Amino acid sequence: MTKDDRFIIAGLGGAKTLQGEIVIGGAKNEALKVLAGSVLFQDGFTALNVPEIEDVHRLIELLKRLGIKVEHPEKNKYSFDTTELKEFSLPADISKKLRASIVITGPLLARFGKVIFPYPGGCVIGKRPIDLFLAGFRKMGAKITEDGENFVVEAENGHLVGAEIFSKIQSVTVTETFMMAGVLARGKTVLKNCPVEPEIVSLGEWLNECGAKITGLGTSTIIIEGGELLQGQDKIHHTLPDRIEAGSFIILGALAGKEIIVKKCRPDHLDALIAYLSEAGVEIETGPDWVKVINSGREKFTSLDVKTHEYPGFPTDLQAPFSIFLTQAEGQSYLFETIFEGRLNYFDALSRMGAKVKVLDSHRAIIDGPTPLSGREIESPDLRAGLAYVLAAIIASGQSVVHNVEYIDRGYEEIEKRLVSLGLEIKRVSGDDKNELCQCLPQN
Ligand code: EPZ
Repeated sequence: MTKDDRFIIAGLGGAKTLQGEIVIGGAKNEALKVLAGSVLFQDGFTALNVPEIEDVHRLIELLKRLGIKVEHPEKNKYSFDTTELKEFSLPADISKKLRASIVITGPLLARFGKVIFPYPGGCVIGKRPIDLFLAGFRKMGAKITEDGENFVVEAENGHLVGAEIFSKIQSVTVTETFMMAGVLARGKTVLKNCPVEPEIVSLGEWLNECGAKITGLGTSTIIIEGGELLQGQDKIHHTLPDRIEAGSFIILGALAGKEIIVKKCRPDHLDALIAYLSEAGVEIETGPDWVKVINSGREKFTSLDVKTHEYPGFPTDLQAPFSIFLTQAEGQSYLFETIFEGRLNYFDALSRMGAKVKVLDSHRAIIDGPTPLSGREIESPDLRAGLAYVLAAIIASGQSVVHNVEYIDRGYEEIEKRLVSLGLEIKRVSGDDKNELCQCLPQN
């Protein structure tokens, strides 16, 4: 994996020929928080089904810089030893590249009474403010100053005090950060207006298994009784299957599969996507841990009105991949991205491939279909739009080159190997390999 790796994809031109099984990896947006939660432990723990993706590798580098010892005995398995954790200042070079690093600030502040961190990084999908984090720290008795580069947050008397925190917006990482801060705060913390994503519930259940006292998981009010450092020495965390990765491949199945089975997933975490695809006319079967998408090749998909929403609504992380499906649905579809204001930033390239899209404002778009797409050279602007471009390239006629694959590597483990196993012609070309660029492609 090098800077500006790119995928060269031979489009199927609308043929639905891919077939086989795709095994889903561990959930990026759970693993990152479980790893961040290692800061709450006196001893450490082991985690399985951890996806081997860039964001996880970056976070592990960050944990090591804080003094946590990490062992990686085999693929997807990591063990953590926190006995020598002593640092509470997040290194900018890593934390600026990783939005999830913000989640560590709560546990570090709760454990050491102080945390220093730069404005977090991550995908450019809107301004990604951190006002709710800063407001929550103040509520728990911390003072915040800025030193030009970093926020310096210090708890009065050296420890956080439990508080009631109503989040004006349902925020996943805010909820996770303060759920973890509450584990070591003095007294009770009550979090109100929490989203109920499965990753939040699984994180809370894991912390409880190691000695935390968290109730209300899966509801909009989570209560945490503050206590001691957690113990996890003999405990093993099994990371949830990644519902966004699973959903991405189910959409691929609808677009280009003859018959694709997505395995080791949680169909019960995918109700919204399955409901929308079924309404559009896609044939889907589900089992305890698999979803099968079948295409006769003659079906016509009907257009939909899609609105993203916190779980169990339609996930914003599947909005871009699902738009590719809408370009192939008959009629006019209406898309409303309610969570992020910068998450429709990928439509220009799709229009150059032949999609008929009208972006109404920073939250809404109209997509007319079906439209055949043509291969192009395109640049992924972020992780999920990058995946959407791969889907577009797969159904397009002719070759496409998808740049900035490092964004896709942040959230999908070895995606090209799994796509090849379905029968797709896709090749990763490393950033420093100049002679592989397709001369045949029309410049976009
Ligand atoms: C998490 O991001 C996920 N990332 C995102 O996945 C996901 O899209 C998002 O939740 C929504 O489901 C991780 O878990 C690492 P939010 P998060 O705070 O927590 C606003 C992916 O592709 N807000 O729930 O950062 C914010 O601007 C990534 O895997 C504030 O206003 O998202 C947004 O409009 C992308 N102030 C809304 O809340 C704050 O202080 C919800 O965002 C914090 C957030």
